[in-house]
Amino acid sequence: MLRLKCISDKFGSRLTLIQLRTFLTAKFPELDEFPKSIKSYDDLHKYSIENSDHFWGTLAKNRLDWFKPFNKVNNGAKFGDLENYNSQWFLDGKLNVSVNCVDRHYQKNPNKVALLWEKDEPGFHESVTYEQLYKMMNKMANLLKSCGVQKGDRVAFYMPTCSMTVACMMACARIGALHSVVFAGFSSESLASRINDANCKIVITANQAIRGGKIINLKKTVDEAIKLYPSVKNVLVYKRTENKFEFNAEKDIVIDEVLDQFSSECQPEIMDANDPLFMLYTSGSTGKPKGLVHAQAGYILQSAFSHQIAFNFEKDDVFGCLADVGWITGHTYIVYAPLCNGGTTVLFESSPIYPNPSRYWETIQRLKINQLYIAPTSIRLLIKNGDEWLKKYDLSSLKLLGSVGEPINHEAWHWYDEVVGQKRCKIIDTWWQTETGSLMIAPLPCGKNDQIKPAMAMRPFFGIDAVLLDEKGNEKEPKNTEGILCIKKPWPSMARTIYGDHQRFINTYLRPYPGYYFTGDGSHVDNDRHFQITGRVDDVINVSGHRIGTAEVEDVLDESHHISESAVVGFPHDTLGEGIFAFVTLRNDADFNEEQVVKELKALVKSKIAGYAVPHYFLFVSNLPKTRSGKIMRRVLRNIASNKFDEMGDTSTLFDPSLIDEITAKYKKLK
Ligand code: PRX
Repeated sequence: MLRLKCISDKFGSRLTLIQLRTFLTAKFPELDEFPKSIKSYDDLHKYSIENSDHFWGTLAKNRLDWFKPFNKVNNGAKFGDLENYNSQWFLDGKLNVSVNCVDRHYQKNPNKVALLWEKDEPGFHESVTYEQLYKMMNKMANLLKSCGVQKGDRVAFYMPTCSMTVACMMACARIGALHSVVFAGFSSESLASRINDANCKIVITANQAIRGGKIINLKKTVDEAIKLYPSVKNVLVYKRTENKFEFNAEKDIVIDEVLDQFSSECQPEIMDANDPLFMLYTSGSTGKPKGLVHAQAGYILQSAFSHQIAFNFEKDDVFGCLADVGWITGHTYIVYAPLCNGGTTVLFESSPIYPNPSRYWETIQRLKINQLYIAPTSIRLLIKNGDEWLKKYDLSSLKLLGSVGEPINHEAWHWYDEVVGQKRCKIIDTWWQTETGSLMIAPLPCGKNDQIKPAMAMRPFFGIDAVLLDEKGNEKEPKNTEGILCIKKPWPSMARTIYGDHQRFINTYLRPYPGYYFTGDGSHVDNDRHFQITGRVDDVINVSGHRIGTAEVEDVLDESHHISESAVVGFPHDTLGEGIFAFVTLRNDADFNEEQVVKELKALVKSKIAGYAVPHYFLFVSNLPKTRSGKIMRRVLRNIASNKFDEMGDTSTLFDPSLIDEITAKYKKLK
């Protein structure tokens, strides 16, 4: 009865266990260890939350290699504990993540390709086997040790997406050091502040990066950064190109010249399950970027498990997450999860339109990629360039197409499905965050494609108790409603703290809605209780999948001697998802040349943060709209920047309502 009902349900709101088994058995042998009464995905999801110790404990025993087994799955930390919150998983267990990602596959299958590095140079890729990765990792670990790096130390990375970066990340994991990968598009000041915040003594970089045929002098940026922070002891330089770079004999070590002097064996450090594994900075709605710290066992377990289940990853698949390794997507689904699962993972160094818009398709054909994982912004860019770029390529290797980083619009979803997937592939929209470590809401690729709803992330993953709250913090009945997306219980891959500031972690994520983890996102749920993420509800803008806090940009603009005050908001952008709009008031507009000031402001943001944080528009106004208590009414500015002049809402508390007309008129002129 139940099964018939389930299968006839058009969208599979209740995926049956039969369907789960059909698609997942090989990947989910633990299903047999859960109670027989479980009949559907919903039942299993409920079980994973209500019996999370049994659920995660079973997986952790099965899927990870331990030096010493854990004796307790979870310490029962509650989000409501604003004094002492400290979630711990797999207590007293000892392991090493690099052993799980490299050694065990090297031992069984040394010649299997671990990494396929698709270089920026079109048509060139390099393969690295598990044996080669094992040796590179260990030599690098020994090199780091020779520089004095010890367990618990932080190592900054400013690297392109390439094999050496992965080997260095694994080397850190091997010796128990935390890597802090800084996206290689950040400015020297951003890099310096991250090096400083985490007190990194070692920086790993490349002489240059190449992206879209353009040379980027990474080493030069590192040199500028460490001038600001001279206590960096060594800069380890990987020669990505043959071009010369400025060599500082006191600090620099050229990796390529010394690596072979080091042994290709390095004893893995015995790590506690809850020791930190790495840190990664991300932007929030206030203050400087936060260095989120991820822990060992919980992170690797949930990352690897979700990779297998949500992406339907089979052991011989080639996994193509074409992100930059410097973001969480790259950490989890380029590096840690595919390697933990013994897979072959692609490192894509180039751009989707270099040398032309068939770059992805040519790469998929040549590397025989089975799962493609990209951001909607790239999809929209490729749609703009036209379908003919795909036509001559054989994309038959593709089985599944994933999307991440920002809401996917319907046009992009359908193009992905029809043109790229040719209606044969599963499409999964995956919602998650730097903080969550691994994906949190995603359709399971079970059953027919028509069981996946267009442009929806749909199902909270196993162990994820996602709820919607109203503004007051009350839980809403999750049926056909909208609200603030929060999570009710800790999960294994959740970040544990903000480096050096646990109170900020609690204040940012746990204090806004006591008892819940606050995601910062809004979501809709439909009648089948499926989720569709609507975007940020805080002052964070998502530009082509990159998070940027409005306060961060405002802080930089306010540093300019031209600017008296600024307010930065997001607006809908055709390809980037959201663009950045800056409203500014000038200090003194006597001899003011608008073009010149805009140029200076753009350069300032680029040099202080990064290119992607540069506002797309500047509007000079006489004053910012403020309430009588002096608070900037951002809602009004957001509506103006989004062309929504009829949706200003209640503006009666504005100190000077006539400003709206002035700003609107100027905006119309600008556009
Ligand atoms: O707003 C959400 C958006 O990206 C934010 C997280 O950004 P970051 O930490 O840089 O991680 C991005 C990659 C995991 C979220 O708070 N976001 C991410 N995925 C989606 C999304 N918004 C809508 N749909 C998604 N699938």
